[in-house]
Amino acid sequence: MKVKIHQLFEYLLETTQAEPQAIVGFSLSASPKLGAFLNDLDPMLPLDWNNRDFRGLPELRSHVLYHAQLAQHLDQDHVLITAGAAEANFLVLMQLLQPGDDIVIEQPGWPQAEVLAKAKGVRCVKVERSESDGWALPLATLEAAITPQTRMIFISNPNNPTGHLMDQSELEHLAEIAARAGIWLVVDEVYAGLEWQGPRAPSIAGIYERGITTGSVSKALGLQGLRTGWMVCRNKDVLRDALILRENSSEIMNIMGEVIAEIALRPDRYGPALGQARQDGQANLAAMNTWVDQQPGLSWVPPMAGLIGMARLPDGIPSDAFARRLLQEPYRTFVLPGSAYGLPGHIRLGVGGGHDVNLNDGLARLSKALRDWPNAP
Ligand SMILES: Cc1ncc(COP(=O)(O)O)c(C=O)c1O
Repeated sequence: MKVKIHQLFEYLLETTQAEPQAIVGFSLSASPKLGAFLNDLDPMLPLDWNNRDFRGLPELRSHVLYHAQLAQHLDQDHVLITAGAAEANFLVLMQLLQPGDDIVIEQPGWPQAEVLAKAKGVRCVKVERSESDGWALPLATLEAAITPQTRMIFISNPNNPTGHLMDQSELEHLAEIAARAGIWLVVDEVYAGLEWQGPRAPSIAGIYERGITTGSVSKALGLQGLRTGWMVCRNKDVLRDALILRENSSEIMNIMGEVIAEIALRPDRYGPALGQARQDGQANLAAMNTWVDQQPGLSWVPPMAGLIGMARLPDGIPSDAFARRLLQEPYRTFVLPGSAYGLPGHIRLGVGGGHDVNLNDGLARLSKALRDWPNAP
């Protein structure tokens, strides 16, 4: 079956021509420039890809395990380097799911699993995160949603779009649920490293035999354009199946992406880069919290981790109409409507991009649009 467009991507496609003057919704850290890597790049690097490993640069795979604190339990053979977390998710979903299966997904959540599962003829069973409970994933409800046809649970931790973070004991509980049902548990950990409350959550590949971790250098390090990510899994058949599908799409990795990602993930570079990203994210988050408190009728659960969260609009403001109005004069500001996540009364706020995004300018425009909306509180 054909892969159909999701409302989130449809909105992005429709609005890319709008040329906003401000964006309130950056979902990644400030991006380094190429120059930051030049001293560590070898001008004689061959670009032919001969003698490379299909699974990715070995040193890069080691860094992935190290940062995810998986090096004690797993080795390089458990890691496949991919074109972003998006490709890792794609390979896993397309190879492990079969028509007639069920998949349990979260609502709100990153839409990729739903889009691909539907295209494969898989039934999506949604479990609602609860705003009144800080957007927690109700695990008893999730367990009750599992059927004899369920083959996989797919979630993001930290969660896109709410920034809710499951800790070690919750992840262990989730793994027990998946183990009782004998199913795969895919955790998209693309926002790992940007925790504002509590430590980094452990990677599911270290907790559960059928746990599959996906991640990338896109978010915390702001290196989205490298298109370099990974999947980590103890089951080598899953990794092999992923490799087979990749061989029939993009075949191999982009060598420049891998080489720069390897440099970026060297522990002596990663530590300071993450430190700066955390400092920038915290500063923008503090500004955002203050701003939200000052807006009549607007509220949010601040993200526990990651750079995005969902704000509830004042009663009577529909997110889609509001976001579209906001793109026009005199506001010229981009914000993602919650309708893209099935939350028509919310908007997605982002605190990424560091200082350069000039968050205050975007927030001032957003305040004006809220005030100007007919019958605003
Ligand atoms: C939860 C989640 N997974 C995956 C992706 C894709 O990331 P990547 O650039 O690593 O492919 C995103 C990007 O927005 C995301 O938010």
